[in-house]
Amino acid sequence: MFFISILLQLSLSAALASWSVSYKPRSICVFERSSVDFTCSFDYPSVYTLKTTKWFKPKKPQKQDGTQQGIFVHHSEVAEIDQLYKNRTVYANQDKNCSLQLHNISKSDIGIYLFRFETDYRGKYTGLGGINLNVAVLPFRVTVTTQKMNGRIHEGDTVTLRCSTENCTPEQGPFAWFKNHLLLPQATENELRISSVSHNDFGNYSCGLKNSSPSSDKILLDVRYSPKNVEITILTSGKIAQGNSLTLICKSNANPAVTNYTWFRIRDANISSIGFDCEFSIKAASQKDDGQYFCTAKNDMGSQNSMIVALKVEVHDRHFLLSATALLFFVIAVLLVLFGLNIRRKQFTPKKQPTKQTPAVTVTEAIYENLRKSPKSEESHTNNLIYADLNLPSSTSDRPRSNSQEAGAVVYSLLSYK
Ligand SMILES: *[C@@H]1O[C@H](CO)[C@@H](O)[C@H](O)[C@H]1NC(C)=O
Ligand SMILES: *[C@@H]1O[C@H](CO)[C@@H](O)[C@H](O)[C@H]1NC(C)=O
Ligand SMILES: *[C@@H]1O[C@H](CO)[C@@H](O)[C@H](O)[C@H]1NC(C)=O
Ligand SMILES: *[C@@H]1O[C@H](CO)[C@@H](O)[C@H](O)[C@H]1NC(C)=O
Ligand SMILES: *[C@@H]1O[C@H](CO)[C@@H](O)[C@H](O)[C@H]1NC(C)=O
Ligand SMILES: *[C@@H]1O[C@H](CO)[C@@H](O)[C@H](O)[C@H]1NC(C)=O
Repeated sequence: MFFISILLQLSLSAALASWSVSYKPRSICVFERSSVDFTCSFDYPSVYTLKTTKWFKPKKPQKQDGTQQGIFVHHSEVAEIDQLYKNRTVYANQDKNCSLQLHNISKSDIGIYLFRFETDYRGKYTGLGGINLNVAVLPFRVTVTTQKMNGRIHEGDTVTLRCSTENCTPEQGPFAWFKNHLLLPQATENELRISSVSHNDFGNYSCGLKNSSPSSDKILLDVRYSPKNVEITILTSGKIAQGNSLTLICKSNANPAVTNYTWFRIRDANISSIGFDCEFSIKAASQKDDGQYFCTAKNDMGSQNSMIVALKVEVHDRHFLLSATALLFFVIAVLLVLFGLNIRRKQFTPKKQPTKQTPAVTVTEAIYENLRKSPKSEESHTNNLIYADLNLPSSTSDRPRSNSQEAGAVVYSLLSYK
């Protein structure tokens, strides 16, 4: 008795199953020429027998009361299918499974898709709402958003680059991002977030899909920053010698471009400003120009000092030339003697342990402090420049190669910069 009642209840619930259609997803965005899956299931009381299934696309928004009309995307009677959709659909055609696959999507497929079925005894049902299909039209575009109202990007700001297409942007990835045409391997989402932007992020960005489709037009991430890497380059006709012209150039990397340059000379612990141009020119150098030079580059964002450059103008009078020539001859003579000795040594002592020799060089260190005042805390410690005052005696010992231009002269050589 108990079992019979359960059986009855089961068959009754099947018989009384409600009329329903369920869609998944309700809204979808896909690329042109790709395929889309509409997942769909439906139900009806088992007393009925299924006769017709159809997917249709209403021509315009209509009442959701089962009276909708439209073009047929799928129909159990193939002849009913609209020309636009012939050979482009695959219908699941399983019991209570109304899933549909649509191939080679184009912009004209944008719209709502509804499933409707009919049974015997004039049973009919259309699933409410349907599936909303949107089509992403290439190319991709990059948009930049910041929290700033004026849209100006400064170092430290948070910046979001978004890769999107017309109408909608599919979630399917992976995406590819390029900076100055080079792939950024870590960036695979349709958004690229830079939480603290730096001057290194300045550049042209573009995006696309990995493995396919052309990438977007590039967009400039215009990060504004104070001058960096300010340094002095010396242009000279020949060497830094009396009578020659010299041009000191203050180079830097800044965005926007540097607006103000200032040149300084340090002499006898006195600092004086000597120029306000990108270049500082000396027409005919003389000993008066000896000293230490640095420049400051400034733009809207801030300023930075260059390292100090020591300038020593070589004086060539007759006396000097004579002594230089004498010295040259002496050195050549010594070298010749050494060469002869060396040949003999090689002949008589074929194998000799290398002996340690300390070079006869006296190094007097003088430390100059750089005057760079960096606005950033990371560079706030004082930068030290170390100059070595090398007095090179014209001794006959093996002396280390120095980059001296002239024997006997005092040479400033940059040992370290930290
Ligand atoms: C669909 O495919 C059949 C054969 O596969 C072909 O005969 C018919 O012309 C095609 N129809 C369209 C509209 O492409
Ligand atoms: C419905 O049919 C589709 C396509 O054949 C299939 O992928 C899906 O798993 C089916 N769903 C159910 C619930 O059987
Ligand atoms: C896809 O559709 C376009 C028109 O929208 C057509 O030109 C193209 O040949 C189709 N591609 C395939 C593989 O059927
Ligand atoms: C970015 O693109 C513009 C326009 O093509 C070009 O002028 C500029 O040099 C590029 N900038 C960089 C950093 O590559
Ligand atoms: C920078 O140069 C402009 C003219 O080029 C001048 O008006 C301005 O006063 C200068 N600013 C500083 C801080 O020197
Ligand atoms: C520094 O400059 C001032 C003014 O230009 C001058 O009076 C002073 O003598 C200079 N000091 C030295 C050590 O040259």
